Amino acid sequence: MTDLSTTYLGLNLKNPLVASASPISKSIDKARKLEEAGVSAIVMYSLFEEQIIHESLELDHYLTRGTDSFAEAMSYLPDGGMYSMGPEKYLNQVAGLKKALNIPVIGSLNGVSKGGWTRYAKQIQDAGADALELNLYFIPTDPDLTAQELENAQVELVAEVKSAITIPLAVKLSPFVTALPNFARRIVEAGANGLVLFNRFYQPDFDLEELEIVHNLDLSTSADLRLPLRWISILHGKINADFALTSGIHKSTDILKAMMAGAKVGMMASELLWGATSAPQRIREILGHIQKWMEEHEYTSIKQMQGSMSQKSVKEPAAFERANYMKVLNSFRDMP
Ligand SMILES: Cc1cc2nc3c(=O)[nH]c(=O)nc-3n(C[C@H](O)[C@H](O)[C@H](O)COP(=O)(O)O)c2cc1C
Repeated sequence: MTDLSTTYLGLNLKNPLVASASPISKSIDKARKLEEAGVSAIVMYSLFEEQIIHESLELDHYLTRGTDSFAEAMSYLPDGGMYSMGPEKYLNQVAGLKKALNIPVIGSLNGVSKGGWTRYAKQIQDAGADALELNLYFIPTDPDLTAQELENAQVELVAEVKSAITIPLAVKLSPFVTALPNFARRIVEAGANGLVLFNRFYQPDFDLEELEIVHNLDLSTSADLRLPLRWISILHGKINADFALTSGIHKSTDILKAMMAGAKVGMMASELLWGATSAPQRIREILGHIQKWMEEHEYTSIKQMQGSMSQKSVKEPAAFERANYMKVLNSFRDMP
């Protein structure tokens, strides 16, 4: 019998396929369907620092740095739509999901600065969440803000959130960090039990006719997998944390690659939201394919493959580094 079970943040999961933070968790009915189809845990959509602060009208200076004014920063908050619900509703949704589901529910906070808003970490725990994911989504636009200052602020935020809770904490990181291994270690030393790689930054486009910024979400593809795949491979065994891979998981082989890099779970959003078939059907197909692939390749458990292709395990560790860049460039033939 093939054993698909894994552990993540101290939670025992029946398989490594986790629903990533997305609006799906706004519907208890949809979340239940994902559970029935086989996902092993669900990460909720985020409660944003801005949503909490909006209520108390205390905005930390990090939020307004790089924007013209407090009023402008506030104007980014949507008036309606899926992220407009207030903190109380969010806590009710945590409790509602916990009541309806048997799989672990991971709450999600999204913020950048220390402050009173982090008390919601404890409230999410009290509402029943099995773990908390903290998403550090920040775009530094101020030339006066140094990498060190920003990293210190994020490390302090992680420590503050950790000190408020007793449930496990995962931190969702940006790939745009100068020295990621060092930063990852600092985040873990500050209290993170898991690292979620990576935040997918939504890039604005230009409408050349209207001269306006276009805000739309692009669906990820399996090609997006390569960035987190490389970094989990590099960090596995060096950083003492459970890794979750998010960005670009669309098929069974993407999950298998994530496991071999060293991830404990693979998280999926785009495929569930916009895939060609319904999300529950897709989950069943992917889990079925994982099982079949493992049987064909004589793997008896997921745990057996975790980290087997990480940098410390492969025959060619330089494949993840600069040397490989030259090799890849050399492999291209000249123009015909
Ligand atoms: C519509 C949508 C909403 C999302 N909302 C959140 C969110 O509230 N919090 C969060 O941490 N990530 C959020 N994400 C990011 C996803 O959890 C995931 O990390 C990202 O989409 C990359 O995974 P994918 O390639 O499977 O889509 C959202 C993604 C999408 C597409």
